[in-house]
Amino acid sequence: MSHLKIAVDGPGGAGKSSVCKEVARRLNLLYIDTGALYRTVGLYVKRAGIDPADRDAVVASLPALSIGVRAEQGRQIILLDGNEVGDEIRTQEISMYASRVSAIPEVRAKLLDYQRGFANEFDVILDGRDIGTVIFPDAEVKIFLTASPEARAHRRYLELTAKGVEVTEESVLAEMNERDRADSTRESAPLAAAPDAVTLDTSDLDFDGSVSAVISIIKSKRYVLTPEKKKKIKKERRSYRFFYFTLGWIVRFLHRIKVTGRENIPLTGGGVLCANHIAILDIFSIGASVPRSINFLAKRELFKVPILSFLIRSAGAIPLERKKTDLGAIRRSVELTANGNLVAIFPQGHRQPGMNPADTEYKSGAALVAYRSGVPVIPICIKMKGQKYRIFRRTEIIIGKPLSQEELGFVNGGSAEYREAAAKIFGEICRLGNFERTLPAPEKDENA
Ligand code: DC
Repeated sequence: MSHLKIAVDGPGGAGKSSVCKEVARRLNLLYIDTGALYRTVGLYVKRAGIDPADRDAVVASLPALSIGVRAEQGRQIILLDGNEVGDEIRTQEISMYASRVSAIPEVRAKLLDYQRGFANEFDVILDGRDIGTVIFPDAEVKIFLTASPEARAHRRYLELTAKGVEVTEESVLAEMNERDRADSTRESAPLAAAPDAVTLDTSDLDFDGSVSAVISIIKSKRYVLTPEKKKKIKKERRSYRFFYFTLGWIVRFLHRIKVTGRENIPLTGGGVLCANHIAILDIFSIGASVPRSINFLAKRELFKVPILSFLIRSAGAIPLERKKTDLGAIRRSVELTANGNLVAIFPQGHRQPGMNPADTEYKSGAALVAYRSGVPVIPICIKMKGQKYRIFRRTEIIIGKPLSQEELGFVNGGSAEYREAAAKIFGEICRLGNFERTLPAPEKDENA
């Protein structure tokens, strides 16, 4: 199985290493700091008393350079002559050494295999200058992380002074400008964004904001749609509009729908709509109430009934196998939401007519989909007079504010997080409709 490769390039001080470290922790990837390899060569050259600008001397010293790299608990460990290199490679002096030696093609060639080696064994996120252009031009996700020179210098200054290094912001900025110039004008693998990289400017983002932005890019890129799938979605959208144009009014008429909170539906971007489920027509009520087209999961059996199959397909249905966990339906929901579409999921799994939703069980598949695609969840409460299913009924659709990934409590994913998030989502649905639990809480939680 081939492993996922995420390339993050950009100038020094853009926050690459700290952001990538946190992203790696959250997404369970191995983080490879390629700058540390160049810094280690810089340290080696300095210890050997070689002028880093003396290319011939540096090249002549390379055969004796022994670097060891291994992964330990998701962390990259670099050894120089058998000893782990620590903060010694983080000084400004070594930054300059690293920048100089990194311009030498023989040094770059020597470090190439170290960088590629891990990608055969682990899902990796690498940060550097030429990862998306030279080391892994085939990386699944490429990000160019940058920030203004002033913002970068300010961050580096805070970092250095926190470590007790005495510097001024001006000297850090001057050193950074010099390094930027050297890194982007050198002949061998200059710093540049790959043409297919997504550029992320972090000048106005704090650390958490940068981490979230990188994770969203990764999630949206992991589920790239093939041209065939894009075409299929376009076709579905056309029949969807036809469906709601011709039949939507019947639903609105039958259900006398009153909608509140329509403004809570984001006008662009993906999202999971989660609602309680009372009647078969619920999905059409939701479809007729939101200002965008939606997709939803419907049990596979319905696709076998001739006319119904046409109708639900037109209304955006995705077939769902209900007997077992349907990974295909989950994947399709993730693909759709990660690519900017809305998918409606009923966490209760099936209709619960006449029941107070606060007394019913729910599953956590919707939370899983939202986590995987990095999109918000929009809670929707469906209320109808008397709660009993009748064809003519008054229906109230109350749309709540989107719940962000942070609000859903997502950090590393996993079933415990999905369960908690599902409880938050369903709690919000009940709150919107003023439903309160009347039965004692269940002992065990059954999950999708
Ligand atoms: O990211 P950093 O500041 O730790 O990198 C130190 C130096 O190494 C930097 O000046 C440029 C160089 N470098 C490189 O040329 N290619 C990489 N993939 C990573 C770093």
